[in-house]
Amino acid sequence: MSITIKEVPTPAYVVDEAALEKNLRILKDVKEQAGCKILLAQKCFSMFAEYPLIGRYLDGATASGLYEAKLGHEEMAGENHVFSPAYRPEEIEEIASICDHVIFNSFYQLRRFGPLVKRIQQKRGVMHGLGLRINPECSTQDHAIYDPCAPGSRLGVTAKTFAEAMADSPELFAMLSGLHFHTLCEQDSQALAVTLDAVREKFGQWLKRENICWLNMGGGHHITRDDYDRGLLIDLVKKAREEYDVDVYLEPGEAVALNAGYLATEVLDIVENHGTKILILDASAACHMPDVLEMPYRPPLKDAGEAGEKAYTYRLSSCTCLAGDILGDYSFDRSIASGDRLYFEDMAIYSMVKNNTFNGMALPAIWRMDKNGVCTLVKKFGYEDFKGRLS
Ligand SMILES: Cc1ncc(COP(=O)(O)O)c(C=O)c1O
Repeated sequence: MSITIKEVPTPAYVVDEAALEKNLRILKDVKEQAGCKILLAQKCFSMFAEYPLIGRYLDGATASGLYEAKLGHEEMAGENHVFSPAYRPEEIEEIASICDHVIFNSFYQLRRFGPLVKRIQQKRGVMHGLGLRINPECSTQDHAIYDPCAPGSRLGVTAKTFAEAMADSPELFAMLSGLHFHTLCEQDSQALAVTLDAVREKFGQWLKRENICWLNMGGGHHITRDDYDRGLLIDLVKKAREEYDVDVYLEPGEAVALNAGYLATEVLDIVENHGTKILILDASAACHMPDVLEMPYRPPLKDAGEAGEKAYTYRLSSCTCLAGDILGDYSFDRSIASGDRLYFEDMAIYSMVKNNTFNGMALPAIWRMDKNGVCTLVKKFGYEDFKGRLS
């Protein structure tokens, strides 16, 4: 019997493979036109059941540390990169033995671990694997929590620190094969253009083939969004490749799985307070879509409008104790009853990777939906998954 999204037990993440593949086709086209490589940032989407599909289109994966690096190594074809603000001595050998690019966040880390990583990589035949994250100190967005260029940021070496290190220890630079910057969040290519100007102004003298052979422009490029200026991105990448004679990498997360997943939920009860009708769902912002509270943002909901836009308005909330575990106020054409199902959209990104079992909330099962709308269970969670993390 084939199951559609209308029948999957809730709560459940349902990944829409047709939408995922549409994004992947766009990304492949961009990389072919621009002549760059594109990696999946696993921090955003790590549902490795889809890695065989992603690996058919992209060049590999990037990781935030050892665990994601192992996942990329085990499950994804192609290149395996890692960046972490700091590595632990006990993990660095394993990282060097499975990662093609190891990107450091400071000259201290490069000095401490660079020689060992280089030796291990060279034994594997990897010759250009060491990189350093730079910070061009060029903020192009308003979300302070997602701005690595904000004053006081720990992320990346500033031009001042870079110049001082070059004056003191130029041999450190000789170890490097590439530079990396990540400054954007859900942004268009105009923001990349501004950032590249800052990179040129502050680090241009180091960005030459005789110094380094690759430049990684990080993530935050919303490439697969309908109104994203892909032509400009392609021009910018081509220009950087020509100007510096380097290979260019992009490592988006969101753009890979944008609008490619749902969180299916059921209404368990409806309560009323001061004239507000409140739906209690079996899904939670705090547990299942933490970015809604962290960023914060209002998740899109299928067939619903803004509060007051349609005939029936409700506040959507959850079963947790957190008074602020509220998804937002939404309106519907019909009145809602207990047992109704609702579908949050754009729930593949930064959802499964961030969820938790606060209050003993169940983790949503993970389903894949094929292009015919047929859903297949990928993974189900239960009480043991909750208990197993706690003692
Ligand atoms: C270093 C790095 N690369 C890539 C990404 C992926 O960004 P996004 O999912 O916004 O494309 C992030 C996100 O925080 C990041 O920190």
